[in-house]
Amino acid sequence: MITFDQTNKIFHLSNGQISYVMQIEEGGNLAHIYFGKHVETYSGGYRYPRLDRSFSPNPPGSTDRFLSLDTLMMEFPGNGFGDFREAAYDIRHEDGSHVTHFVYHDHQIMQGKPALTGLPQTHGEAAAIETLCLSLMDETAQLELKLFYSLFDDTAAIVRSSQLINHHEQNVRIEQFASQSIDFPNRPLDLIHLQGAWARERQITREPIHIGTKRLDSKRGSSSHQQNPFSIIADPQTNESQGECYGFSLLYSGSHETIIERDPYAQTRVIMGINSYHFAWQLGTGETFQAPEVVMAYSDQGLNQLSHVYHTFYDAHLIRGAFKSRERPVLINNWEATYFDFNEEKLDALADEAKALGIELFVLDDGWFGKRENDGTSLGDWFENEGKIASGLANFAKKIKEKGLQFGLWVEPEMVSGDSALFRSHPEWRLAVPNRQPAVSRSQYVLDFSRQDVRDHIYHQLQVLFDRVPIDYIKWDMNRNMSDVYSLLLDPAQQGEVAHRYMLGLYDFLEKLTTAYPHILFEGCSGGGGRFDPGFLYYMPQIWTSDNTDAIARLKIQYGTSLVYPPSTMGSHVSAIPNHQTHRKTDLSIRGHVAMSGLLGYELDLTQLTTAEKAAIKEQISLYQRHRQLLQFGTFVRLLSPFEGNDTAWMYIAKDRSEALVFYFRVLTEASAPLVTLKLQGLDPQKRYDSAYGVIGGDELMQMGIYIDPHLAGDYVSQMYHFKASE
Ligand code: DGJ
Repeated sequence: MITFDQTNKIFHLSNGQISYVMQIEEGGNLAHIYFGKHVETYSGGYRYPRLDRSFSPNPPGSTDRFLSLDTLMMEFPGNGFGDFREAAYDIRHEDGSHVTHFVYHDHQIMQGKPALTGLPQTHGEAAAIETLCLSLMDETAQLELKLFYSLFDDTAAIVRSSQLINHHEQNVRIEQFASQSIDFPNRPLDLIHLQGAWARERQITREPIHIGTKRLDSKRGSSSHQQNPFSIIADPQTNESQGECYGFSLLYSGSHETIIERDPYAQTRVIMGINSYHFAWQLGTGETFQAPEVVMAYSDQGLNQLSHVYHTFYDAHLIRGAFKSRERPVLINNWEATYFDFNEEKLDALADEAKALGIELFVLDDGWFGKRENDGTSLGDWFENEGKIASGLANFAKKIKEKGLQFGLWVEPEMVSGDSALFRSHPEWRLAVPNRQPAVSRSQYVLDFSRQDVRDHIYHQLQVLFDRVPIDYIKWDMNRNMSDVYSLLLDPAQQGEVAHRYMLGLYDFLEKLTTAYPHILFEGCSGGGGRFDPGFLYYMPQIWTSDNTDAIARLKIQYGTSLVYPPSTMGSHVSAIPNHQTHRKTDLSIRGHVAMSGLLGYELDLTQLTTAEKAAIKEQISLYQRHRQLLQFGTFVRLLSPFEGNDTAWMYIAKDRSEALVFYFRVLTEASAPLVTLKLQGLDPQKRYDSAYGVIGGDELMQMGIYIDPHLAGDYVSQMYHFKASE
């Protein structure tokens, strides 16, 4: 899959679906040539043209006026020595200079994919992966840059990461170090990205890329509600079903940045990695800095195909453990049912009702520990709130299990409340600058997870808890962002390392915890979907998508999330009306249809429902259970976008194309409205499908489609259609 043409110094990575081409240019400069649809053999004819561009310097050591690093398509660009565009790295040397010029040193092509130490990573059978490791050197600084490119034989994606190794006897200070960079030749391009806020996560935004620089980032110490670490570069004509597009997905849960620059010659550079904001890493002699992985995917059949590449790749090569590819349980969560105001009696009643309706997992959310009766106290005290559950937490959990439900618990281990036993005994364990009051958020501070002693203490508390209470599921929450980033254990010169050391500490903690408790299903959460990223998915196979449980708001949130994350990762609950976030009232049916489009759960007081509502929920659950494999692991296709109008539709297709489920949602009704038609996708044109519309050929369903029932009346309505191939 990976070849090196020794004569022309060309690397060609290809797997029948994609090609990625680089060339070692004069002076050892590594140039980018191409990323896109597979080309069988590359002739060498697409070499960057030689042209004298005024005010674009020639490479150090070269007198060739026709070659400039300022215009060449670069593979991992630096600046300060002739390229004036954005750089993939910035290194400050002991003499105060910032010039680091990496040139080709050697390379290795290997079977499999070398492991990354301490970071989330994609994985697979060595026989199905090939990796190119390129080594570049700056001889003056004695610095080595390693670029890794892994190609999986079943995927239209390249996994990239980078490493910096210091061979000098002096330290260097890394002020920026991206995971990847890529240059696109002059062509009109759009940028698509997922921005948002709390309760409004992952909203699809699309804009043309103009000359200049755009920066998409999170400085929050988490991947954030604000900007997901995912972007797409697309041809302006690309839509869901046609056109070229390139995805960039960073496996990192901390602050990140994506820099998009269109240069004066209309070439576009895309750089992605850890955020350089307040970042500075001292790299000592012999030390290595490893940047997180980026999965770069390609599609020439539109955005749905790009999402399909990510969904299948992440389901197969990112998610790990006992729950990989395993159907996830339908849960009841008591948060919106009771908030902090619960006792054993209330929980018992909720659990009994849940069981009667067919729910499989009972989750006890916030409020069971320390002295927690509101959000102002007790984070850090991961022992039982004595007396709140009369028979005790362990007994209660056993009772839940005796009822035939699994038992789950909420924790927020990275945080400490000012009012907590932990904070009183260890005020120095929070992130704070000495002699300064740190910012509080939700009345809490962030624990310094870069410290081993802090992590050990929290780990021990969780261990005691997990060993005492029969736990099947953990919801791992994080309800504020990082500020006052400073660790008392590090030198002043190392304070720029704290945010990343925190992430490494957290990943180390999660690795240990999830390995020690492999039977526990972990669900990530950060005030809803504030840390919904592939880094977290490496440790936890599912994530609470948003605190916003309103069915209408969820259409956009889930549609946006689906651009890169598979349905098997998206926690999605039916909640009460009026909705607690938007105060909107919607029918139980649309709430059910939206929630069953992800990992179905319920988060409302089931005991307050009418008999008819209970019957409807029972039916929803049994429907979901019948189609769970399809809904969690089927091929997901977006049909109508909530960002473009009043109608939303998506569908799931079985891997063997033997059945499909189609969901249609309408926000507002209209008099004399045009009829809505849906052309289905992904079916077998040779098969005939049994449905509410009769027995219809797959070709007909895809070419002609179906009319949505014109008698569907009112606002906030939905329909589900099942298509089953006849024998
Ligand atoms: C934020 C989460 O997203 C909610 O689901 C809930 O667990 C609360 N935290 C509890 O404090």
